[in-house]
Amino acid sequence: MHLPDLEVAKKREKKENKYITLNEDIKKVFTNKKYFLRTYGCQMNVHDSEAIRSYLERLGLVNTSNIEEANVIVLNTCAIRENARDKVIGFLGKCHYLKKNRNDVKIVIAGCMSEQPDFVSLIKEKYSFVDIIIGTHNLYDLPKLLVQEFSKLEIEVYSESDEVLEGMQYERDSKYTAWINIMYGCDKFCTYCIVPYTRGRERSRKKEDILKEVMELKNKGYKEVTLLGQNVNAYGRDIGEKFSDLLESVAKTGIERIRFVTSHPWNFTDEMIDVIAKYKNIMPYIHLPIQSGSNEILRRMNRRYTKEEYIELFNKIKTKIPNATITTDIIVGFPNETREDFEETLDVVKTCEFDGAYTFIFSPREGTPASRMEDKVTLEEKEQRLYELNELVNYYANKSNQKLLNKEVEVLVLGKSEKDNAKVYGYTDTMKLVNIEGVNVKDTIGKIIKVKIKDAKSFSLDGEVVL
Ligand code: SAH
Ligand code: SF4
Ligand code: F3S
Repeated sequence: MHLPDLEVAKKREKKENKYITLNEDIKKVFTNKKYFLRTYGCQMNVHDSEAIRSYLERLGLVNTSNIEEANVIVLNTCAIRENARDKVIGFLGKCHYLKKNRNDVKIVIAGCMSEQPDFVSLIKEKYSFVDIIIGTHNLYDLPKLLVQEFSKLEIEVYSESDEVLEGMQYERDSKYTAWINIMYGCDKFCTYCIVPYTRGRERSRKKEDILKEVMELKNKGYKEVTLLGQNVNAYGRDIGEKFSDLLESVAKTGIERIRFVTSHPWNFTDEMIDVIAKYKNIMPYIHLPIQSGSNEILRRMNRRYTKEEYIELFNKIKTKIPNATITTDIIVGFPNETREDFEETLDVVKTCEFDGAYTFIFSPREGTPASRMEDKVTLEEKEQRLYELNELVNYYANKSNQKLLNKEVEVLVLGKSEKDNAKVYGYTDTMKLVNIEGVNVKDTIGKIIKVKIKDAKSFSLDGEVVL
């Protein structure tokens, strides 16, 4: 079994993009072999999976959605909460069963769980049928490790060195909208969060490399790019750049739609607001996690802002960008959160009337400071708070959507609707999901079109093409 070298991975500052030279012998190894890929977690992982697919397909493996016929099963894992971890452990049971019946199947665990020493030990002890564990820092070793697993072939590895991983190739899920990593890692160390441990310190890509990627995508016909970072607006602090400048340069490339996630309130500057307000191709949608409305909890979370500062920022954004939608993330049941603390959270939801929110019950992550904090709040109480919060959040999400009834909106159409094949779906500039019907509606896939909203629910809108 290959195990990641955690210490080395964490210390490595210069990263290398390695790929193996394919020769006839290696090609033969993978002829007629198939892979099954399952992705958990955030956009970062979804995008990493596009890199994994590219690695596998360049080796010659073919994608299958039928796990029974796969020769390589890759689980790209997430460690953010215990239930994310449980899902992976559950899935491993199925993999074990498959391996018992067939010896030509290799199991690969990638993603954030592979960067957790306790998980790696658990795999070694209890799930030793796993063949490769590969971390988030050395994904580029995957082709080499697979060749080694399937054969004893000599392989030639070539590498390009750079500050961060450059020259990556992706098998992108969409032909119209693309993820672009602009930075890796996170330095914030919110006390509940595992990400700084699984993704390492903040490393920004060079502005010119990012702009080159945007131009390449634009030339291929992509309509939209989403700039990705755990802390996207902390971009450039390590290399003397500013996120607002990058955003402006990306806007000037003329790509039709630009998005960015996830913004941290602490790094949200006035310059950023001005740039978003100035350029029509920067979408008026901001995901701005607040986490809690209680100043005491925010302090213990190490979020670096108060409720009042957050509301001030929120109002500033809404004043300068009146059509902006703002969504958020909220955690309930942080250790020893009192009823009063929780009511502060409800209060901030009422004040800001968020267009949407992802809500979570606090989940202790081993190795983080919050996992060692005293907690007298019962799970029952936490569940009750989550329920109350969701009721309120849904009320405002619905209210926000109702405002669009009978209005015309611009939608980038991404594909056929899952539920109804006669319809297509896409997103408004403000990131609202719309299911669309109309004559020859399928011809609109990949285009930005005008849609009239006919029905509004809490989580989606229904509309009709405007001719
Ligand atoms: N980088 C982003 C989001 C990271 S993870 C940010 O800083 O906002 C996405 C969300 O998961 C977080 O915003 C937080 O609300 C939630 N989360 C993170 N760790 C958690 C934990 N231990 N328990 C419950 N929710 C958690
Ligand atoms: Fe986690 Fe905080 Fe970093 Fe977001 S900013 S990834 S919540 S440590
Ligand atoms: Fe999960 Fe890792 Fe993303 S822990 S949320 S996949 S950065």
